[in-house]
Amino acid sequence: MRQPEARLAEAIGLANAIALDVQHSEIVRLRSPSASHLMGKGQIERVAATVAAVCAEVVVIDGPVTPIQQRNLEKALKAKVIDRTGLILEIFGERASTREGTLQVELAHLQYQASRLVRSWTHLERQRGGFGFLGGPGESQIETDRRLIRERIQRLRADLEDVRRTRGLHRRQRQKAPWPVVALVGYTNAGKSTLFNRLTGAEVRAEDLLFATLDPTMRAVALPGHDKVVLSDTVGFVSDLPTQLVAAFRATLEEVLEADLIVHVRDISHPDSDAQAADVLGVLTDLGLAPEQRQTPMLTVFNKMDALDADSRAAIADRASEDAIPVSALTGEGLERLCEAMATLLRAGSRVHDIKLSNGDGRRLAWLHEHGEVVGRSDTDDAVNVQVRLSDKDWSRFEAMA
Ligand code: GTP
Repeated sequence: MRQPEARLAEAIGLANAIALDVQHSEIVRLRSPSASHLMGKGQIERVAATVAAVCAEVVVIDGPVTPIQQRNLEKALKAKVIDRTGLILEIFGERASTREGTLQVELAHLQYQASRLVRSWTHLERQRGGFGFLGGPGESQIETDRRLIRERIQRLRADLEDVRRTRGLHRRQRQKAPWPVVALVGYTNAGKSTLFNRLTGAEVRAEDLLFATLDPTMRAVALPGHDKVVLSDTVGFVSDLPTQLVAAFRATLEEVLEADLIVHVRDISHPDSDAQAADVLGVLTDLGLAPEQRQTPMLTVFNKMDALDADSRAAIADRASEDAIPVSALTGEGLERLCEAMATLLRAGSRVHDIKLSNGDGRRLAWLHEHGEVVGRSDTDDAVNVQVRLSDKDWSRFEAMA
């Protein structure tokens, strides 16, 4: 169970994330949700008065609202109503950066809309330059909208197919990057970006210019014993991720799929910290990305240690272990230990291999230099013997090369 106050604070954060200006927020307790209006008559009257008083144009309800409830509430409150799914869809719409991500989110959005063609959303979309094809006046418009949506969904599916075909190509190109990839994941607001900036800002090197052309959320850092490691920040997780969006989420999490190490950042000072962690792991599992499913090592970070009182600090310190590190991205506390733990886990998956190459095999020798750490070499007349430290992933890649 989550604390309503913390949930409300999160919902406000989500609303702010799409630049809604929150004028009022409150917890409305529902004894038995009404099928037609969700809230009771008295509650609606009270909320309607507030909506009028602050001139609200949008009412966000942090939970599921059926199409019928939405329509009735919009009439009663004289404002657009969006539920948690709608809100999250909006956020993903804004954050999706890859073409596939954008298409996925639009598809999810349309499927959600198709189920609630009640001339909703019009306002938000027109204002923010969204899809904007809904919103003709009168009920007769709804049939046209339905057809348009159906056609659009078909087109999106075809576009997605195309994008997926080329994506395979891109991934192959990316695999050439010779450095291990560490992906930061975590519940929204856990402090991923702060940690990312701390780690990369502290250790940025001149060669980082290479990454200027990559996704801005990927940067190189140096770790003990590793020349270079690519750190990637990912979009925050939220609870009740709409099912339509799981696929879209997957696209934005491609870096995690490819990662050599997953770092799960937790806001350990949050009252719902354990529930949030369970959500993150649940989503990773749904996506087939959980460590036990992929053999990708995972490290947990207990972030925001500075925000704890002395007793809680001691309690968390007791829970810390080799793969659960207490830190504060804000003060820098614990980061050295975190870097060492990341380096150790990355090295754990690697071994030194004795490899014999024929003399003319310059291509594979170059590949080994690029992907591994060559620790020894002896040449004979017709062969080159090299000892190379390679991750298990790279060893399989090497073996697969003819
Ligand atoms: P999303 O982008 O929503 O996924 O969030 P995020 O996980 O990237 O979190 P972000 O780094 O944006 O931090 C969220 C808030 O937590 C910010 O206000 C940070 O200043 C704060 N924060 C991050 N790390 C710490 C920390 O170690 N201690 C404290 N007290 N606050 C922190």
